[in-house]
Amino acid sequence: MGIRCGITSRLTRGAAEAAPLDAATAHAQVERRWELFLRWGPYALLGFTAVLLVATDGFLLTSTAERWAAAALVVAGFALQVWWTLVSPRHSAGPSTAGAVYYGLRWAIAFVLSWLNPFAAFYAVLGYFGAERELPRRMVPVGLFGTAVTIAGSQSGGFPPEGRSGWLLFAAVLAVHIALIYVFGQLAAYEEKRATVHRATIAELEETNARLQQALDENAALHAQLLVQAREAGVADERRRLAAEIHDTIAQGLTGIIAQLQVVSNAADPALAEEHLNRASALARHSLGEARRSVQNLGPAALEHHALPEALKQTVTEWAERTGVRAQFTVTGTAEPLHDEIEATLLRIAQEALSNADRHAGAARVGVTLSYMAGEVALDVRDDGRGFDPSPSSRLRSSRGDPNAVEPCSGSGGFGLDGMRARAERVAGAVTVESERGRGTAVSARVPLLRHDQ
Ligand SMILES: Nc1ncnc2c1ncn2[C@@H]1O[C@H](COP(=O)(O)OP(=O)(O)O)[C@@H](O)[C@H]1O
Ligand SMILES: [Mg+2]
Repeated sequence: MGIRCGITSRLTRGAAEAAPLDAATAHAQVERRWELFLRWGPYALLGFTAVLLVATDGFLLTSTAERWAAAALVVAGFALQVWWTLVSPRHSAGPSTAGAVYYGLRWAIAFVLSWLNPFAAFYAVLGYFGAERELPRRMVPVGLFGTAVTIAGSQSGGFPPEGRSGWLLFAAVLAVHIALIYVFGQLAAYEEKRATVHRATIAELEETNARLQQALDENAALHAQLLVQAREAGVADERRRLAAEIHDTIAQGLTGIIAQLQVVSNAADPALAEEHLNRASALARHSLGEARRSVQNLGPAALEHHALPEALKQTVTEWAERTGVRAQFTVTGTAEPLHDEIEATLLRIAQEALSNADRHAGAARVGVTLSYMAGEVALDVRDDGRGFDPSPSSRLRSSRGDPNAVEPCSGSGGFGLDGMRARAERVAGAVTVESERGRGTAVSARVPLLRHDQ
């Protein structure tokens, strides 16, 4: 209750709406102003009252005794105020006995002064301010009522009221004062409640802000971590790609060249030797070209001028001529242009499977089938060679997400089978190898049917 609360909460609210985080500062500022007013305001009002007393001396203070009494009261008021100025900092926490004594004495001085000269009501007005700070809670209404009596007395013509009409006027003015005190009290209580809710909202908002900031910080850290992981994954991915490229171009080419040169060194017939030498140099040229293309991240040269079925047909034919193994190439389903990456993947897998059939299988016949199905393309390379056991876990290990997968996967083999799997997985496909000793090998790659324009 009290005028102070209403003003305080209004100012606090205004500041809080402008910038919630400044609310506490604004509140402290208003508090400081009130402290200043309650400290120096009484001196000013008492001084002003003293001036009025002197100015109206001629017609309101009639006797010398009254003048002395008024002067003594003003001096007492100043003394009281000085005392309160000195002791009040010790009681700033809230109502105290010293505060009640100060309030009571000030009221008494103001009442008697107003009796002597109604203008002293300016000093009595102080009773409306600070009642809540100085008086215990249950004494506040008494203090406010006493102040209302003093001011109503001076407003209705001064004490004591004269005659019946004087008393009636005094009662009426007092009633208005009490009604106003009640109304302002209610308003202040309402404002105080709103301010409390508002402060709670601000506190909640600050907490939410803090949580949000924390979430943002965590998010930023996560983002940084993800970037690092993405970079590492990118590096591992590129290493895998390069390993596969080196294996499928240079390593395969060199293997073929060595095979041709071995034939040359054993050949007695110069014409046969020349033919194999020509094949060796053609292989070297081809491998060099492929290696250059893979450095530039281009697809296989065979796909530059032909679609996958023709490129595969050519690869199978050339392989059969070079190795002397009977090979058959078949296409099932309706052939359609595929995405470059898909075509390159299937061609590289076919080349590696054929290379394995040549080097490890000792096969008499090889069959290569390209099947276009709904949503999927399959490439099967079967040989009737000696077969092998593809079951050891190291050989079947998937290379996906394993940065070490660029290493040769088994003591006996190289990068071929793992490279096939890695290539297929890069385009969301898969490779399965079925083989049994003495019963040949079937390599099957399945990849999504992604058309050229997709
Ligand atoms: N078609 C096949 N017939 C028989 N053995 C095969 C065949 N393909 C692969 N292998 C066996 O699997 C091993 C691993 O093959 P791969 O990963 O291509 O490596 P590399 O060909 O460099 O040896 C080969 O060393 C061989 O023992
Ligand atoms: Mg191989």
